[in-house]
Amino acid sequence: MSIRHATLHQLKVFSLVAEQGSFVRAAEALHLTPPAVSIQVRQLAEAVGAPLFEQVGKRIYLTEAGRVVAAGARDVLHRLSRIGDELQSLQGLEQGFLRLAILTTAQFFIPRWLGHFCRQHPGIEASLFVGNREQVMQRLTRHEDDLYIVGQPPEKIQAVAQVFAPNDLVLVAAAGHPWQDRSRIKVQALDQQPFILREVGSGTRLVTETFFTQHGIKPLVRMELGSNEVIKQAVIGGLGLAILSEQAVQAEIASGSLVRLDLQGLPLKRQWYVAWPSERALSPAAAAFVELLMQPPPALAQAPSV
Ligand code: PGA
Repeated sequence: MSIRHATLHQLKVFSLVAEQGSFVRAAEALHLTPPAVSIQVRQLAEAVGAPLFEQVGKRIYLTEAGRVVAAGARDVLHRLSRIGDELQSLQGLEQGFLRLAILTTAQFFIPRWLGHFCRQHPGIEASLFVGNREQVMQRLTRHEDDLYIVGQPPEKIQAVAQVFAPNDLVLVAAAGHPWQDRSRIKVQALDQQPFILREVGSGTRLVTETFFTQHGIKPLVRMELGSNEVIKQAVIGGLGLAILSEQAVQAEIASGSLVRLDLQGLPLKRQWYVAWPSERALSPAAAAFVELLMQPPPALAQAPSV
């Protein structure tokens, strides 16, 4: 056997196990069972003629041969996706795909832009992955999509990141909260207040925790919830306060079920970025979508459904 007998599928599976450091996580991402993933990696190791991983306690580590194969597999897979890009660019904007990966918080406005884009280019098929910062960054590392909508530029991968909209984070409470008419509330007032946080891995969570640490405050974390939607309902239900993206709470503030509190130091001024790996040329569809994002948001056909 030799590496020449390896298949692309084996390289893809192995690459993901190497990146995740886990057979189980790679299996989840590929929608396969862990034994199916192990078989692919074992067959690749047989082709290479050397083990690719070694196990120390519960963790797996790449062997020296594993590291060589992992670097090669990455090159092959990136090259393949560039060939796909080049083929797509031959088709211009008449046909093709636009794959977007966006943060959960961006789901409150990106679909509107996407709808507008798809109406302008009916031949383009679009797909949308929605996840938290950690999940979107993992997809960026693997070049799984054309464009990534993120709340801060990627740090661990060479990427182009262009600002296209403001992303302020605000403090919200249930309507009727005793602080709702107070102005310039001191940050220290948050100490020991019941608070609801996003899950670990969320960009909103990261920024909120940094804000707490900077001001030396320790709110009473009542709950950690994995979605802006559920957090809004919990806040409306009076379970605590939350810091969320202004775009995520606009509709509830307008309808009066949530109120925005005037805390000193807020809003946390952030921005939305559209990013893509530097080494990758944009397809015509991706380039046209970036251009669209740089223009004022399309007018609302109807109120955003949240
Ligand atoms: P999140 O990110 O949806 O992962 O919380 C939002 C942001 O970074 O602003």
